Amino acid sequence: MDNQVLATIKERRSIRQYTEQEVPEEVLETIINAGKYAPSAEGRQPWKFVVVTDTGLIQDLSRRVKEQMATVLKHRRKWKKRFSELEDNRTVLFLRAVAGSTQDVVFHHAPALVFILTTGELFNDESCACAAQNMMLAAWSLGVGSCWIGFAKFLESDPAVMQKLKVPEGYHISAALTFGYPERVPQPPLRHPTATVINWIKG
Ligand SMILES: Cc1cc2nc3c(=O)[nH]c(=O)nc-3n(C[C@H](O)[C@H](O)[C@H](O)COP(=O)(O)O)c2cc1C
Repeated sequence: MDNQVLATIKERRSIRQYTEQEVPEEVLETIINAGKYAPSAEGRQPWKFVVVTDTGLIQDLSRRVKEQMATVLKHRRKWKKRFSELEDNRTVLFLRAVAGSTQDVVFHHAPALVFILTTGELFNDESCACAAQNMMLAAWSLGVGSCWIGFAKFLESDPAVMQKLKVPEGYHISAALTFGYPERVPQPPLRHPTATVINWIKG
């Protein structure tokens, strides 16, 4: 069974190499609009969007993510309570490599970055994740690549950045997505077989 939606779902990849071509504003607006059509708990539509197409600022944000990462690693005993991942040596080594890199290993030189913001109300983050997936699929259907950047969460600990992005009081970064035209599309990672359905209770 296949159709255009299923094909887009299967073909989408996280893109980490972009061409220098800008994504036109109307294309970004179309992508964000697709996000707004996502399901949301109680139909609350709890999202706000911040769009950054200033590539100088995106590079600065990349540096600031790495700075915050380095701070967390330095005081990791304190942060372990919040992020149990810091107990894992492999994660610590990986974060250290990212924090110490001179390359833009955070936003991958993307020409556009969209933050999805929300408040702490129950299920708001889940609703925003639905919006994020709608946006990544809509982008792919328009020839635009994307990548969810979880590392962008580190920006929440930098008040100057939150102010610069004009994140409203009480809101946090639920998701950050890069957008741009793909320079290279990676091979799809292997999918677990459908046998991972561990139980199918038929009537
Ligand atoms: C919540 C979340 C956080 C992610 N954070 C990052 C990130 O910080 N940097 C990155 O390069 N990719 C990030 N990704 C992308 C994943 O690495 C990617 O989706 C995964 O490797 C599968 O590849 P695919 O999207 O091409 O199918 C994230 C994805 C999700 C859903």
